[in-house]
Amino acid sequence: MEQSNTPLPVAACAGQAQQAEIVLQNMLTRRSVRRYQSTPVPQHLLDRVIEAGTYAASGKSMQPWIIIQVTDKAVQERLRKVNAEIMGAEPGVDPFYGAPVYLIVLAERQNRNHVYDGTLVMGNMMLAAHALGLASCWINRAREEFDMPEWQEWLRQLGIEGDYEGIGHLAIGYADGEPRPAKPRKPCVYKV
Ligand SMILES: Cc1cc2nc3c(=O)[nH]c(=O)nc-3n(C[C@H](O)[C@H](O)[C@H](O)COP(=O)(O)O)c2cc1C
Repeated sequence: MEQSNTPLPVAACAGQAQQAEIVLQNMLTRRSVRRYQSTPVPQHLLDRVIEAGTYAASGKSMQPWIIIQVTDKAVQERLRKVNAEIMGAEPGVDPFYGAPVYLIVLAERQNRNHVYDGTLVMGNMMLAAHALGLASCWINRAREEFDMPEWQEWLRQLGIEGDYEGIGHLAIGYADGEPRPAKPRKPCVYKV
């Protein structure tokens, strides 16, 4: 396609700058939320979040991930229990903070980039959730869980074959209250 050297109209440039600012502000204002309302999340919003996850970059574009949406109360109860046990938490502690939806990301263990790739899915979904007015929090210990035979078996029951490593769970829902402000950023940038 031939490239045009015609400058963009000012209005279009301004629109682009505004759009960029919206995207950047979304990144800067996302926070991990640790209190949720029980209000269910409409499926069309969850689908947008999941779709954003699937558009993450991946090494050689292999997309070695799967994403499992869990709203089933019995499965959530099992996940809370096993996650708390791995964490060594007191009985009754909810590591998912009462969120109504859990999104689990797993990635093919034999893919050498699977952890990087799966982590990008998590990042995309956190930002997408925030853009849609939803709160989220990465909940760890998916690796330990999905290394367990009973959770491997659960994957089989869902019809998922293959060797998947748990990357993370995303607790997702509507925030109950305001999250803590971001900590100051550590100095971490070198410019040469
Ligand atoms: C790999 C990873 C694991 C995390 N695991 C947990 C977790 O198990 N429970 C939790 O409450 N937050 C967890 N978090 C959220 C972090 O605590 C949070 O991102 C951090 O405190 C910075 O806060 P912010 O997300 O609001 O910027 C995790 C985040 C990452 C990236």
